[in-house]
Amino acid sequence: MRTCRICDSALTEIMSFGDMPIANGFLTSLEEKEFLFPMTLHFCSQCYMVQLGETVPPEAMFNGNYQFVSSTSKAMADHFQGNAEEIQTRLKNVSDPFVVELGCNDGIMLKHIAQAGIRHLGIEPSANVAEMAKANGVNVSVQFFNKATAEKIKAEHGQADVICGSNVFCHIEDLNSVFEGIQVLLKDGGVLFFEDPYIYDIVKKSSFDQIYDEHVYYFSGLSVAELAKRHQLQLVDMAHQDVHGGSMRYYIQPGSQNTVTERVVEWIQKEEDIQLNDTRGYEKFKDSVNAICRDLKTMLEDIKQRGDKVVGYGATSKSTTLLNYAGIGHDLIDYISDNTPNKINKYTPGTHIPIKAYEEFQQDNARHVLLLAWNHKKEIFAKEKDFRASGGRFITFFPEVVIE
Ligand code: TYD
Repeated sequence: MRTCRICDSALTEIMSFGDMPIANGFLTSLEEKEFLFPMTLHFCSQCYMVQLGETVPPEAMFNGNYQFVSSTSKAMADHFQGNAEEIQTRLKNVSDPFVVELGCNDGIMLKHIAQAGIRHLGIEPSANVAEMAKANGVNVSVQFFNKATAEKIKAEHGQADVICGSNVFCHIEDLNSVFEGIQVLLKDGGVLFFEDPYIYDIVKKSSFDQIYDEHVYYFSGLSVAELAKRHQLQLVDMAHQDVHGGSMRYYIQPGSQNTVTERVVEWIQKEEDIQLNDTRGYEKFKDSVNAICRDLKTMLEDIKQRGDKVVGYGATSKSTTLLNYAGIGHDLIDYISDNTPNKINKYTPGTHIPIKAYEEFQQDNARHVLLLAWNHKKEIFAKEKDFRASGGRFITFFPEVVIE
């Protein structure tokens, strides 16, 4: 029987996705052997944490060749600049503040803190993206964060006024060890804030493609409040973010007597309204995911049968889950256009669809485009105004399959 990584209670399986490849395991050649793992989603009815059953060792994902680079989207760059501004506002009256970011990636957020002359440190386990952060003027330490590393940072720099992390906490299997580190490093009166895809949005939209090897946890206010409590910390605020298809930013402070905002109470109520504290909420989710997969595959098969082709837009990590689970391969998708240089000319994990440069898509006459990077819909629809005006159509699929 599986037990919860946070509180050790028995887990209930919500859904099984079969054998899945690593979401960012883009192949250079089809001869390469792929690493597959049985992907399942579980729920803890004690601490409400939704989590993967099996995980992939972090060394296999976040190695020197990690493909994911944050700074590929204008909207995300703006979002992280906003985060940096929020931190600066918060620290206005603090003398010589110290900011620590866990998983600083290429420095997309921390470079603004560095430019403002604020003492900072980025912790980034992937050597190649850490180099990019350094090139962006950011102080980076290449390591995983835990209690031992927190002790060292504290000895060298003192405690932190702000600890933050975006799309990183959900990746860390031993989250208790990270929170033990936070307990050591976070100043009294300081704040930890982190944001990750929000299980409320995932369930509401059935956007199950957020579920993949790198995302061990799918947080809610319910589960984060419990997690914080275990470490003598308190969830004090929540702010919804319109990125990654719906994310939540959680604000946490040391102690148990802080002022808790009305937003926390409201969000937790909304979570309870859709039964995120009960296995029944997740059973409905599973049924609607399966219905979307059926509808999408049928639509793509119909287009193909008419003799038209479909191309994909954005070789996202999350599309690995969608394409593999729905059984959509190279037979249905000609290629996927992407603007990330190191993804081009590679193949998608498991489904082996070729990835081509955006310029090839621009010269193509494809009329049907599967919007795999659906989280960037606004930005992409603005960019592809002419394509749509000339009759080109995007296929989107959450919360239902639509041609638009
Ligand atoms: P991302 O949003 O990071 O999703 P995930 O976390 O699931 O990987 O990925 C977006 C991908 O889409 C990335 O590979 C870049 C690509 N992309 C384009 O090709 N064109 C665009 O206009 C945008 C916004 C993204």
